[in-house]
Amino acid sequence: MPGLAFGSILFESSPLVNSLMSDAGEQVKKFFFTSRRSHEAGQHEESLEIYIPELLQASYSFYTWPSAPVLAWFLWENRQDLVGKRILEIGSGTALPGIVASKCGAHVTLSDSANFPKSLQHIKRCCDLNNITSQVKIIGITWGQFLTSIFTIGQLDLIIGSDCFYEPSIFEDIVVTIGYLLEKNNNAKFLCTYQERSADWSIEHLLNKWGLVCTHIPLTDLGADSGISIGELMQDHTIHLLDIRRAT
Ligand SMILES: C[S@@+](CC[C@H](N)C(=O)[O-])C[C@H]1O[C@@H](n2cnc3c(N)ncnc32)[C@H](O)[C@@H]1O
Repeated sequence: MPGLAFGSILFESSPLVNSLMSDAGEQVKKFFFTSRRSHEAGQHEESLEIYIPELLQASYSFYTWPSAPVLAWFLWENRQDLVGKRILEIGSGTALPGIVASKCGAHVTLSDSANFPKSLQHIKRCCDLNNITSQVKIIGITWGQFLTSIFTIGQLDLIIGSDCFYEPSIFEDIVVTIGYLLEKNNNAKFLCTYQERSADWSIEHLLNKWGLVCTHIPLTDLGADSGISIGELMQDHTIHLLDIRRAT
């Protein structure tokens, strides 16, 4: 395991994720991504291991939310489309999807609120553990605020985000930020996973207001190629994947 310094106490394991507790109270989760690919020469297995440090007593951004592995698996299963793509992750937290995208050959910028410097530091720690620090950018992007960082990102092909729509009072800030970025990058789209927390929550009216449209991407076959269970991946939550673009 690259660059990890901790006493390895295994306290949870499943085919998808192992957790190890460090001396400093940091839990490092190991995520496995596998798939069988058919080639002319026959089937061959590809795999990827990602190490995510978590601080369980801390705030939202130091824990990997159930939506993150779902988006990460979707990216992994579509990794042939990621090579060379310029990707921004918003509300990265522990940045599992963005790290997977980087490992699959995308040019990735990871972000979290500019008001949370410790979260940005933690993203760097996540990148360090996966040996990708030199190939990703980490910036502060606060939803609904137009700071210098948002004007200097450069061109984007794809924006990703997991579990950003978790608190209705910030939904419009996210949609405004995405609307601005998609206006600057007409052919880009925003792929985001969200966890169903209340049947009353909706972003439909905000998407209409800011000239965006969304489609649901079905997840029923996610992981089938690797023999993983979608139920285990979602950890008994209901998680959806949206593709959001500019209305034409
Ligand atoms: C529920 S967590 C999800 C984290 C990660 N994407 C995941 O799925 O594990 C929400 C994330 O949004 C970030 N966040 C909260 N408010 C924000 C804001 N106003 N601007 C940008 N990021 C924000 C938090 O710091 C946190 O990382």
